[in-house]
Amino acid sequence: MDKLVIHGGVPLRGAIPVSGAKNAALPLMCAALLSDSTLTLSNVPELADIRTMKKLLGQHGVRITNPAPGVYALDAAAVDNFTAPYELVRTMRASVLVLGPLLSRFGAAKVSLPGGCAIGTRPIDLHLKALAAMGAVIELKDGYVHAACSGRLKGAEITFDKVSVGATENAVMAATLAEGKTTLHNAAREPEVQDLCQALKAMGASVHGIGTSTLVVEGVKRLGGAWHTVIADRIEAGTYAAAAAATGGEVELIGARADLMQAVIAAFIRAGVEVKETPRGLSVRNTCKRLRSVDVTTEVYPGFPTDMQAQAMAMMAIAEGVSRISETIFENRYMHVPELSRMGAGITMDGGEAVIHGVAELKPAEVMATDLRASVGLVIAALAARGETTLHRVYHLDRGYERLEEKLSACGARIERVPGTAGAEDRLEEAA
Ligand code: EPZ
Repeated sequence: MDKLVIHGGVPLRGAIPVSGAKNAALPLMCAALLSDSTLTLSNVPELADIRTMKKLLGQHGVRITNPAPGVYALDAAAVDNFTAPYELVRTMRASVLVLGPLLSRFGAAKVSLPGGCAIGTRPIDLHLKALAAMGAVIELKDGYVHAACSGRLKGAEITFDKVSVGATENAVMAATLAEGKTTLHNAAREPEVQDLCQALKAMGASVHGIGTSTLVVEGVKRLGGAWHTVIADRIEAGTYAAAAAATGGEVELIGARADLMQAVIAAFIRAGVEVKETPRGLSVRNTCKRLRSVDVTTEVYPGFPTDMQAQAMAMMAIAEGVSRISETIFENRYMHVPELSRMGAGITMDGGEAVIHGVAELKPAEVMATDLRASVGLVIAALAARGETTLHRVYHLDRGYERLEEKLSACGARIERVPGTAGAEDRLEEAA
């Protein structure tokens, strides 16, 4: 099991290229199932989750070529297997996003229930309710979702009980080939959902209200192929911005989209970080010797993203004063708290909130990653703490951060990956 050894206390200075968004690329790859023509995606990040999605789609019969770095051509003309097996789904929850496309194009899908993960139970009831509203017959048996519909799905008026990125994505993909109009109320507005909708339109779908809470989809008989460039990863950009801020450095994030990061930028500015748009993206500079404490509550887009919560907490751990961080999206997304505390962070839990009493310095330690974003919160803390920190279970990081060591080393970070022997735990990857 690989580990990262980080010698912290070095201000990050330099430029970091932002990769394509993992959480856009994954649903976009599933969208290929909707058409018998080729969907070509560029700016796809090279990540463990992308490799898992390739494996999953490959076993469905999707032919995937990689004509250039970051470019994938997905051809679903010969899809012949409608089952997404447990051994793949349990390693990556986003596998459930094949459900809507398979059902809508082929009238059948058998998808393993993803199970929970470190940050919560992660049910898919909202996905299933939306598909049932469109006429799918859904049965849960032996840990699988068995979904079927005779003929085409039917357009429907659907209101999600709560905002769900994945349920919105499954429903909007299913609706593109349904008979008639589907209206999705209380739909997710995340940029990754918007990017998926733009690609579906490029494939010939009729989708209106993109970026709003109400999506209207007029079903069509078939979808064609398309070329689509995956949007920049706003969470990766925010992560490296937090690393620059926490180390007292100055970094330019190439390709970052300020328009997708307003809530994060506002929080950084409140913390005393200078954030400026540049012709290439975004520059982030820590202008004060010590960050100011900031309260953060995670919300659905365009609010402060839950995927940036651990990173914000790492920053606030060394800020001046007391910060309160409240996680409202997932029920257990505080796994980074005990590990940050082992590095000397002054964090107590008060009901559903983390109360962070900033300390002047964190102390290096041996720490363990538990989920994708908790891991990178620990990387940020390690970069800020003078001395040697070792981070175990690095495979969590590899799911969502392309070339992390390389990008950080290019900005002066002293970070080294120590290959480990692949133990049983390595393979027991948790779904995120
Ligand atoms: C997506 O997960 C992202 N993953 C997550 O990123 C992200 O944290 C999350 O959206 C919220 O922004 C991908 O896009 C692959 P949800 P998703 O459905 O779709 C509950 C990362 O680190 N819920 O918006 O699974 C759910 O339990 C990952 O990159 C139901 O109750 O999130 C959660 O509390 C982590 N029933 C809330 O809604 C459902 O049917 C939001 O979940 C579905 C969700």
